[in-house]
Amino acid sequence: MMEKTIAPGIRYIGVDDNDLDLFEGQYIIPEGISYNSYVILDEKIAIMDTVDARKGGEWLANLEEALEGRTPDYLVVQHVEPDHSGLIASVAEKYPSLQIICTAKAAVFIGQFFDGKSFNIKTVAEGDVLELGQHSLKFIMAPMVHWPEVMVSFDAASKVLFAADAFGKFGALEGDLFIEGTEDWSCEARRYYFNICGKYGAPVQALLKKAAAAGPAIIAPLHGPVLRGDLSPFLALYETWSSYGVESEGVFIAYASIHGGTAEAAERLAEILREKGCPKVAVSDLSRDDIAEAVEDAFRYGRLVVAAASYDAGLFTPAYNFLHVLQMKAYQKRKVALVENGSWAPSAGRVMKEMFGAMKDIELVAEPVTIRSRMREADIPALEALADAILA
Ligand SMILES: Cc1cc2nc3c(=O)[nH]c(=O)nc-3n(C[C@H](O)[C@H](O)[C@H](O)COP(=O)(O)O)c2cc1C
Ligand SMILES: [Fe+2]
Ligand SMILES: [Fe+2]
Repeated sequence: MMEKTIAPGIRYIGVDDNDLDLFEGQYIIPEGISYNSYVILDEKIAIMDTVDARKGGEWLANLEEALEGRTPDYLVVQHVEPDHSGLIASVAEKYPSLQIICTAKAAVFIGQFFDGKSFNIKTVAEGDVLELGQHSLKFIMAPMVHWPEVMVSFDAASKVLFAADAFGKFGALEGDLFIEGTEDWSCEARRYYFNICGKYGAPVQALLKKAAAAGPAIIAPLHGPVLRGDLSPFLALYETWSSYGVESEGVFIAYASIHGGTAEAAERLAEILREKGCPKVAVSDLSRDDIAEAVEDAFRYGRLVVAAASYDAGLFTPAYNFLHVLQMKAYQKRKVALVENGSWAPSAGRVMKEMFGAMKDIELVAEPVTIRSRMREADIPALEALADAILA
């Protein structure tokens, strides 16, 4: 049996989803995902968010079991994205006296998602407190982490921070509700963070300041395990990520190759970098590997090399798509080097320079190295020089 009490009077009632093909319509989730939800049982009872409607029956059963025949007073809606708001109408119909607590913006979104239904809504703003008895929830606004209506909630009695999508992670819980230490957390939490919140570094920083001031002992996110024990490593990672800092020393090489020539040059460059003592060289094939993971690695390391074939007088599509996503996610503060390949009129380097030129604080460490059709021994000195430039 899974441990379900996260603090006295606070129970986990979330669900795992192991058969969703893509999260948010684009992210592979080989280990599934959890939609977290909690219930605070006190003189008054508050439900903290619902889950995706895909798991309606299971969630309503979890809720009923936790309630032990009592009637909930409040549903706190921290975030109206359907993976958390899917069952608002179902639970409101089941418990007609239930009052929904959310931001004014969330109330608008609830109206949009549940057209024609009317709800008993009380809107709250920064610093408002909902008294439940022993427990009291203080609401902390978190606009654009990663939607505009988001708030988080802090219970002074238990020091639990209900963090909405912040501190979320891909991967179903499979019975492990808690995690202590970032070792088994950071990989899928990082992929989640940069792809979902990456653009919103400043709003995440603002939330971190307010959250740290509250002094949480436990962080209860809407996806992935509940964080407890020493929270400082989790907070430190979020500080690095949201300030676009470098987490790991090393170089990330992302390549996009039609016939293998660029791939060969990229692998050779990786060898050269290793020979030169680079502590870590990660390589990704943008045509085949998970782009969300490539995005994660681009942010993780401080130095990025993109090697790409020319294509229709432009940039080979997988590299174009990757750079487009980096641009969307506010990629910044990084050293970048480029390798282009072309058989008749190489154009990949020009397009990549333009795309990186539109991003903030990107240092192009050298002019793009040009390969013609296939890498030759004569190209090695240029790759060596590029390696020196990116490592400098
Ligand atoms: C559909 C298509 C479009 C291409 N467009 C260009 C181009 O605009 N300019 C160019 O120099 N080469 C172009 N090429 C050729 C490749 O960029 C070139 O052969 C390169 O060496 C491929 O590198 P790779 O071995 O890593 O795939 C094109 C190739 C294909 C299949
Ligand atoms: Fe979300
Ligand atoms: Fe979510």
